[in-house]
Amino acid sequence: MLSVLFVDDEPNILRGYKRIFHARRKNWQIHLAGSGAEALKLLEETHVDVIITDMRMPGMDGARLLNIIRLRYPHIIRIILSGQSDEEEIMNSVLATHRFLSKPTDPQTIREAIEQSVSFREKTGNAQIRGVVSQIDHLPSLPELYLEIENILRREDFELKEVTSVIEKDMAMTASILKLVNSAFFGIPRKVSTIQEAVSYLGVVLIKSLVLNHSLFSTGLQGPHPDFIRRLWQHSNETVRHALCLARGCFREQEVVDEITLAASVHDIGMLIIANSLPGEFAGIQRQSLAGNIPAHSVEQEVLQTTHAAIGAYLAHLWSFPPAVVELILHHHDSAINFKPLFILHLADVGAQQTLNDNYGFPQESLDKNSMSLFNKSDPSLNATFKDCLNKGWNDD
Ligand SMILES: [Fe+2]
Ligand SMILES: [Fe+2]
Repeated sequence: MLSVLFVDDEPNILRGYKRIFHARRKNWQIHLAGSGAEALKLLEETHVDVIITDMRMPGMDGARLLNIIRLRYPHIIRIILSGQSDEEEIMNSVLATHRFLSKPTDPQTIREAIEQSVSFREKTGNAQIRGVVSQIDHLPSLPELYLEIENILRREDFELKEVTSVIEKDMAMTASILKLVNSAFFGIPRKVSTIQEAVSYLGVVLIKSLVLNHSLFSTGLQGPHPDFIRRLWQHSNETVRHALCLARGCFREQEVVDEITLAASVHDIGMLIIANSLPGEFAGIQRQSLAGNIPAHSVEQEVLQTTHAAIGAYLAHLWSFPPAVVELILHHHDSAINFKPLFILHLADVGAQQTLNDNYGFPQESLDKNSMSLFNKSDPSLNATFKDCLNKGWNDD
């Protein structure tokens, strides 16, 4: 049974929710609250899986309510309904909200938003993930800077310099991206000294991934396993570069290239969460993995009853990443699935481990030879593309 809480200051709207979703009473337990304070009171004694709140309410608005809930009950999926004119409030709540639905919205959209969360839960054995996630007091939100870039790109009339000026506001981010971009891997013939040049050479997708990695991993450096986080960050960036090289060589559709690149950038984000939020368990997993030369995800399954792939996919889902990206992250260690984009991600992952000669301190994976021969049959240039991307290995310092 899914426990859903609706919050709105208009009694008519609340009654409407109750009436519309009455038909789902076998699967949904519906709770109603007329204000933020009432919702918080209810949460003290009731288990809730999903909260849908209006943005504009007297007293505590939706943004403030979700900010509190994020800290107190991080496992609750948080959805906000906001109007076009609520821009400032939206900026205040971006970090606290998993999904935005714009008003007016129809019951169908609300139902779908809720059901997508549920189906995902069922698919990933979510009881276990929730078990882990509930021990974590702070799930990373999608970085604000990344959201700002996404918002710019979503407009049809955007100009690239808007994107670059957002990135350039952050000096550490700018320096780190320029260093990567100037590495030999990208093969840019001359030194790139501004983000604008970097974007024009490499495209906004890659830069977006590097921004995402910088925001997510740099904060992790203050956590209990900084050396590990540094290596994981490097691994993620390296996987992005291999993924982009491979995906461009294998797919013509820009959308597929984008999805593989985005999945590559956060494929191991579950590891960051385990290392920072469950440092003791993490150390045990790493010891066991190294001692027995067992892949991290197998040990995680044994110790946590879930894996970094499932945790990462869960997070990507909460961040409303495209379903294809969520699936790629979820199955990135699943060699039994014969799906080409997934195999490309596997190649990128293994390629990154080879060129860095490191798998962030865990045993290195080997290439899935069966899949390689399978996909090489339909795309005879695949093997060569993989070797080519490997040879472009970087050596910048
Ligand atoms: Fe992984
Ligand atoms: Fe990986």
